[in-house]
Amino acid sequence: MKILCISGSPRGKRSNTFKLMEEAASGIAAVERDVSVEYVHLANLKVEFCTGCDTCHRKLLFCPLKDDVAPVLHSMREADAIILASPVYINHVTAQLKALLDRSSPFIHCQMLAGKHGASLATSGGGPHAMVLDYLKEYLVSCGVQYVGGVSGPVSRFDSMKEEAKALGADLAKAVKGHIAYPDQLSAMEKRREFFKGVIASRKEEWKGEYEYWKEKGWI
Ligand SMILES: Cc1cc2nc3c(=O)[nH]c(=O)nc-3n(C[C@H](O)[C@H](O)[C@H](O)COP(=O)(O)O)c2cc1C
Repeated sequence: MKILCISGSPRGKRSNTFKLMEEAASGIAAVERDVSVEYVHLANLKVEFCTGCDTCHRKLLFCPLKDDVAPVLHSMREADAIILASPVYINHVTAQLKALLDRSSPFIHCQMLAGKHGASLATSGGGPHAMVLDYLKEYLVSCGVQYVGGVSGPVSRFDSMKEEAKALGADLAKAVKGHIAYPDQLSAMEKRREFFKGVIASRKEEWKGEYEYWKEKGWI
């Protein structure tokens, strides 16, 4: 089982949110022995901002920007499960994580991460945090990932969050192992696919790469 853990905190291994990720990984390891966990600290990578040039839609996932994003997107496609983690920065994910997600729009247009499971983690200094989990869930489900759950809270609750993150990791591993399906999410994905079918069909000359992917999938 391949697990990809992406941390949006700039604080590396000192990050509270990253520590929750490690707890989640230990929960996964308690359920599944044959597991490989890849950690990505976005702050250590060069992640340019999306310029909206549209190239990745025309030539699927090809981006003219020269940085470290392509291998991360590749790892996302290879993983069985993806965990996204971010501290709350001014009521949202960090700029580091948002910059990565902005670079992945074909994942959403083509639900390219279908068949995978996912989870998310967030910590705040004391203010609201649930909206970050909601946002990350929405992102993952938009990409076709079935969302197993999330853990978030203020750092004052860190000890109990560690336990919750460990339990979340175990649930995630069970979901991957048991191919657990979430019918409400699958039907939301189907509706979204219906919407994008119209978009992709109307732009088939322009967004050739995405159109070809849709054709290969037999969705169009
Ligand atoms: C630039 C910045 C913005 C922040 N914004 C918020 C916020 O909007 N609400 C909040 O409760 N905490 C906020 N915090 C506190 C962090 O969310 C909190 O310390 C978090 O646990 C840090 O996570 P990390 O250790 O994983 O980096 C902010 C911290 C920084 C540095």
